[in-house]
Amino acid sequence: MPAIAVDLGAGVRREQVLSEALPYIQAFEGKTFVVKCGGAAMESQEADLFARDVTLLKKIGIRIVLVHGGGVEITSVAKRLGIESTFLNGQRVTSPELRDVAQMVLAGKLNKDLVAQINRTGGRAVGISGVDGPTINVRRAAEGMGLVGADVECDPAAITHLIAGDFMPVVAPIGVDANGVIYNVNADVAASAIAAALGAEKLILMSDVAGVLVDGELAHSLTKQQAVHLIEDGKISGGMIPKVTNAFGTLDAGVHKVHVIDGRVDHALLLEVLTNDGVGTEFIRDIA
Ligand SMILES: Nc1ncnc2c1ncn2[C@@H]1O[C@H](COP(=O)(O)OP(=O)(O)OP(=O)(O)O)[C@@H](O)[C@H]1O
Ligand SMILES: [Mg+2]
Repeated sequence: MPAIAVDLGAGVRREQVLSEALPYIQAFEGKTFVVKCGGAAMESQEADLFARDVTLLKKIGIRIVLVHGGGVEITSVAKRLGIESTFLNGQRVTSPELRDVAQMVLAGKLNKDLVAQINRTGGRAVGISGVDGPTINVRRAAEGMGLVGADVECDPAAITHLIAGDFMPVVAPIGVDANGVIYNVNADVAASAIAAALGAEKLILMSDVAGVLVDGELAHSLTKQQAVHLIEDGKISGGMIPKVTNAFGTLDAGVHKVHVIDGRVDHALLLEVLTNDGVGTEFIRDIA
């Protein structure tokens, strides 16, 4: 998938864009942002650009916590091992063999690749999985899904220790239950639980689409009521379901903003955080 470059457009000057960033920098200094990057988005945007963005945001005083997906890579490694993947409501039905593949790909390969990229740019990233700490606690398996964690809760102690040491935590979405059983956890579910536990300012979900599309058009904002209808009508499906269904619980938990943005766009994260042009879809509370 080719990356998409953003044109400044006629009459928009570099210095104007830089200067516009000041109020955002002032507002966000010391705040926590949880950024989830999906597997497909990670493949299309140059990893180096994303690494530079998160390092820049950290350097201006935003506390960045990353959670990464890995859907595409898990499917392809499993396939090479002769294991086919099936999905239900956007989440992978996880046999013990698939759980092992997910654990290896997420905590072994992708987490370390991302950490290495960020550290090349001076971001002081430290990779952990949800098993470490433990950070991502699973109460039960999702019904009919095999080893997919449900009733997921985050204990943020390990993450807050890393932040206090000026490190950038990078979390692989696998979880563990009270018996030490390891589960595959959808990365959106993990990111939502982490954002809620940290009382984050923002949860930003970077995917491989422009945002939530309704009949091919980008929805700039979405309420819970609208989302429920769109899922019922089949207009929101697959991997968009866990993003949408978890977004509203995250807002209820006190996170101020939850967005889906287009991770294929070069520097999508910087544009979202530091310019007047919000990109993608913002989830908003229903007006009572
Ligand atoms: N209404 C919709 N708007 C946008 N995308 C949708 C919609 N309905 C379904 N989708 C699908 O959701 C996908 C995004 O979820 P997906 O799980 O594939 O990726 P991800 O969550 O970004 O990455 P990962 O699963 O690796 O963390 C889109 O690529 C699209 O195919
Ligand atoms: Mg997904």
